[in-house]
Amino acid sequence: MRPLRLHSAAPISISVLLASLAAGQVITWDEAYARAASDLAVLSQDEKVGIVTGVTWEGGPCVGNTYEPTSIPYPSLCLQDGPLSVRFANPVTVFPAGINAGATWDRELIRARGVAMGAESVGLGVHVQLGPVAGALGKIPSAGRNWEGFSNDPYLAGVAMAEAIEGMQSSGVQACAKHYLLNEQEVNRNTISSDPDDRTIHELYLWPFYDAVHANVASVMCSYNKINGTWACEHDALLNGLLKGELGFKGHVLSDWNAQHSTVQSANTGLDMTMPGSDFNTPRGSIFWGENLALAIANGSVPQARLDDMVTRILAAWYLVGQDQGHPEVAFSSWDSGAASVDVTTPEHAELARTIARDSIVLLKNSNASLPLGTPGSLAVIGSDAIVNPAGANACTDRGCNTGTLAQGWGSGTAEYPYLIAPLDAIQEIAATTGTTIVTSTTDDPAAGAAAAAAAETALVFITADSGEGYITVEGHPGDRNNLDPWHNGNALVQAVAATNTPTIVVVHSVGPITLETILAQPNVVAIVWAGIPGQESGHALTDILFGAYAPSGKLPYTIGKSEADYGADWTESQTDPFTEGLFIDYRHFDYYAIEPRYEFGFGLSYTTFNYSALAPAISATPGPTTGETVVGGPADLFAAVGTVTAYVSNTGAVSGAEVAQLYIGFPDSAPPTPPKQLRGFEKLSLEPGQTGTVTFQLTRRDISYWDVGVQKWVVPAGTFEVFVGASSRDVRLTGSFTV
Ligand code: BGC
Repeated sequence: MRPLRLHSAAPISISVLLASLAAGQVITWDEAYARAASDLAVLSQDEKVGIVTGVTWEGGPCVGNTYEPTSIPYPSLCLQDGPLSVRFANPVTVFPAGINAGATWDRELIRARGVAMGAESVGLGVHVQLGPVAGALGKIPSAGRNWEGFSNDPYLAGVAMAEAIEGMQSSGVQACAKHYLLNEQEVNRNTISSDPDDRTIHELYLWPFYDAVHANVASVMCSYNKINGTWACEHDALLNGLLKGELGFKGHVLSDWNAQHSTVQSANTGLDMTMPGSDFNTPRGSIFWGENLALAIANGSVPQARLDDMVTRILAAWYLVGQDQGHPEVAFSSWDSGAASVDVTTPEHAELARTIARDSIVLLKNSNASLPLGTPGSLAVIGSDAIVNPAGANACTDRGCNTGTLAQGWGSGTAEYPYLIAPLDAIQEIAATTGTTIVTSTTDDPAAGAAAAAAAETALVFITADSGEGYITVEGHPGDRNNLDPWHNGNALVQAVAATNTPTIVVVHSVGPITLETILAQPNVVAIVWAGIPGQESGHALTDILFGAYAPSGKLPYTIGKSEADYGADWTESQTDPFTEGLFIDYRHFDYYAIEPRYEFGFGLSYTTFNYSALAPAISATPGPTTGETVVGGPADLFAAVGTVTAYVSNTGAVSGAEVAQLYIGFPDSAPPTPPKQLRGFEKLSLEPGQTGTVTFQLTRRDISYWDVGVQKWVVPAGTFEVFVGASSRDVRLTGSFTV
């Protein structure tokens, strides 16, 4: 077997990327507001209305554009998707999707991804990059857009939102936290009402938006759906109450594309910008704002102060990220091949994309140390997911097909590949140096796959599951997936290959969980590698792990259940979703109802082993509600430190590797019914064999609070909290407690 060449430190370019951060957000919200106020004094009413109104779909180079005033040096704002790259522009770097970034559990990488994406957006003249995503949060495992976000755990999603936003905005683009709020499925997204209770809203769905606002996010996109019967983009309690009130959000709220339903109501309830400036009225293209907003102000239905507030927020966000300081002109057109007049890609960004993809790979099963592969004499590479779509990586609009290797989902949150390294490409690069014979079957035909497997020492079978945005249906899946099975009859393919008695390694490219029971029932399936949707460097990242240059270090950002029914949440064709599962989604549901998952939240194997020791909680907090005044992000004391939990982690194996140590908290009985364990800390440590590192989980008041619907505040319950530290939500290595 070829010796392992394991690396532990992040490549130098990532630290360089982070160190070279632009001075970033150079001014405070107060200063930004002051500058906006001076501008407001000189703007005409028409110019103000133009700043808050889109110029209609395809009316400018970006997916969203506003009118340019002449009395101040402020541009037509360019708003462009999306959460993993710059949509419709070419060339750009296609990073791993949000869900893969989440699977790294690596704050530094998530931030670096934000820095790099932000830099590419700025280079192309984008002002508002339409991401990151924390909704869909992912209560429904088959929901189409879960992969755009980081995790269905609000804590992991919240940390990632903050890192992504700070990274993006440090490069000078306005981030846009979306979709606010409760857009949890694609089917009927334009009509459905999401109706959770107040506590569930706060503790699950709003949680990552606290982090986003706390990180000074410049903008927030309100969603298509209704909430308790009222459209999200004209919902007083949601926009004025929660977002601008409780969370102290100072930036601007823009509508999802055509998610506005009224002129007056939306203005008075907190919407600040309408996108794209057309709507579904007849004739198409008539608009709720524009001159209709001016009329509503003239007749007194909308106060002048409301328009002034919209403009102030929009201008302040522009100043906040320094876009008044020589921001580049828009250098591409979404509607004309996207060819950019500048090349914003860099070798560092490509390397970062590879690193994130590699570090997001979750090793689920590895019997008899079948991986890493070492130097096999022969390998069978099987499945259509092993190669790039023969018609071209970008053949399908917005990646709306599942042909060839899957490295993004589909919809507005995608981008054009500058190139795509498929698994077979990268395997052949390695085989050329090791002399390994590669046998291929690059369809999903079971008989052909079995024939290839029979001719090799080891078989690699590639299977997929795809999903995306509901305006495209792919292979009968209306955005949301119809089930959690692998696509293209992947189970039959794996069964046929494994039946040849060839040791079989299954590689999964998937937007979210799939049911693995059929695959695991095949005795010859010796390993399962979970690669998610890894972006342009897919193949290289995979071979880095398969051939042992690096140990896998990703951990599942969601639960893989034994059956779809085990999750207790599915999408509905009804026009209301009562969110009856409440707080109990994903692992909170599996834990509360004592359902055994197949692979639990936070799970992932390495090529080495880790030992945990010396748990020391040092927490001190006063029980009761928050008392602080509202600042940006919520009550001032919500994010106040309450102490730390520390532990040691040692690499007890033979090779270097990285471990994600995880902290879960159990609440005292004095709190209302709460999930048995909730993630409240994580740290990723790179360790050489024999090396021990310290993990220090910093806890804030929010981490030990529940939302009290009676007092309408976050409350620290009195009593004893349980502390669980371990390698996953179920692989608990250390337990302890603290009392407040
Ligand atoms: C999506 C948004 C996206 C917008 C602009 C909408 O369909 O829901 O996420 O940013 O389109 O493309």
